[in-house]
Amino acid sequence: MLDIAFVRPSLPKSGALVLLVHEGEKPSGVWQQADEATGGAVARALEVADFNGGKGKSVTILAPGAGLSRVVAVGLGKPAEVTGRGLNEAGGTAVAALSRDGTAAIATGTLTPEQSADMALGAVLKAYRFDRYRTKEKAEDKPKLSKLSLLTGDTAKARALWERNKAVAEGVFLTRDLVSEPPNVLNPAEMAERCRKLTSLGLKVEVLGPKEMQKLGFGALLGVAQGSVNEPRMVVMHWNGGNGGKGKAKEKPVAFIGKGVTFDTGGISIKPAGGMEDMKWDMAGAGTVIGLMAALAGRKAKVDAVGLVGLVENMPSGTAQRPGDVVKSYSGQTVEVINTDAEGRLVLADVLWYAQEKFDPKFMIDLATLTGAIIIGLGHEHAGLFSNDDGLSQKLTAAGLEIGEKLWRMPLDEEYDKQIRSEIADMKNIGGRPAGSITAAQFIQRFVNKKPWAHLDIAGMAWSTKDAPCTPKGATAFGVRLLDRLVADHYEG
Ligand code: BES
Ligand code: MN
Ligand code: ZN
Repeated sequence: MLDIAFVRPSLPKSGALVLLVHEGEKPSGVWQQADEATGGAVARALEVADFNGGKGKSVTILAPGAGLSRVVAVGLGKPAEVTGRGLNEAGGTAVAALSRDGTAAIATGTLTPEQSADMALGAVLKAYRFDRYRTKEKAEDKPKLSKLSLLTGDTAKARALWERNKAVAEGVFLTRDLVSEPPNVLNPAEMAERCRKLTSLGLKVEVLGPKEMQKLGFGALLGVAQGSVNEPRMVVMHWNGGNGGKGKAKEKPVAFIGKGVTFDTGGISIKPAGGMEDMKWDMAGAGTVIGLMAALAGRKAKVDAVGLVGLVENMPSGTAQRPGDVVKSYSGQTVEVINTDAEGRLVLADVLWYAQEKFDPKFMIDLATLTGAIIIGLGHEHAGLFSNDDGLSQKLTAAGLEIGEKLWRMPLDEEYDKQIRSEIADMKNIGGRPAGSITAAQFIQRFVNKKPWAHLDIAGMAWSTKDAPCTPKGATAFGVRLLDRLVADHYEG
């Protein structure tokens, strides 16, 4: 992770300087000193570039003098309109402009400690890279920036706030790492091992294997897993930070449930070859739950939370489940498996029912790369939100807008249930082409027993082919910051 420091303001003698500028702001402090030390070079360049601190604008000035390698001016917009999200993005913009510079850079602006910590978070998130499997990259092709110092009047306060943001960034990175890992490395057992490592953060981690799940009667999940030589797992992660941080609260926990298909070939209903490699990230829902639990534990959130992930590999083989098979879920309901590629809902069915039976949570939120249809509907701008609870939906939507992970609510309606009627079982696992994301959500809802519940279909959001202000292309960890914010805004204390 990019190293962050908070130091008292003074003009650096070398290296790169970032000026965070509000719209219409006049030079003062370190900015003014930089102007003077460079004989007005900074001021001249900003004038030629017509830079006045407008939001999202940035200018890079190379070798302006006074020993500085570059000065990057980043616009924050009007002071009254600066948001946490805007500061995250300013941090990301700065890092993008600095990555080829020396190892350390200094950022300054008239920011509060909160604002400095938000800027630092954006910078760190943008500097993420997954380069574990690159063995031949030349040093000069790697980003060089390794440390960013933020100049601030109240270094102690900024540092304390940063500790919290840093824990969230670590959760995001864990998710991005898991989602980026190739599917030969990250099979269900390996993913469960990585969960187990989180005990070092104070999480309690339980891992269930096929025998335990068989005993419980997880017929839906096990049916998906039976075609693979890689055994399934279910992992339960507990964070007991509630009751004012004393743990063991009398209150019900909040519950997060993730689809963790470590590779989705489609099974016997096999997918076409083109693009199938993308299905390594069909475990992103689980990856997000794991990163979220790490974030909550890392920042010692005052909440009792459980995270449950169903980990399976969906493969075609002589032992794989067939279209036409009927499986019995943990809830007792039977499912006719018409299409073995609609596997995520089968996994979630058993894990959701278990979460509810075992923990009687306040609410359940599941995350899943569930349907291609949600990408047709919402593209890569919003995740689909399905819920039986208006209050929970509003809280989720608002948290998403705050941090820049947008949700769009989709309908649930029992009329859609007709599409998943089966001739021989309680339901079938697909509902045909119309409203494919909705019938998937209706299916999942059958495994929710009168409990506030939300389902986030993140198929269009888990992976990006384009760079965004705080997210390099690749695994996005969509949902970690969103749900961390949901908890922070409503379920702590
Ligand atoms: N993992 C896929 C959904 C998906 C597709 C995620 C593309 C990300 C990108 C899911 O298991 C799946 O295969 N869904 C099918 C359902 C269909 C068989 C009813 C789909 O969307 O085609
Ligand atoms: Mn599938
Ligand atoms: Zn899938």
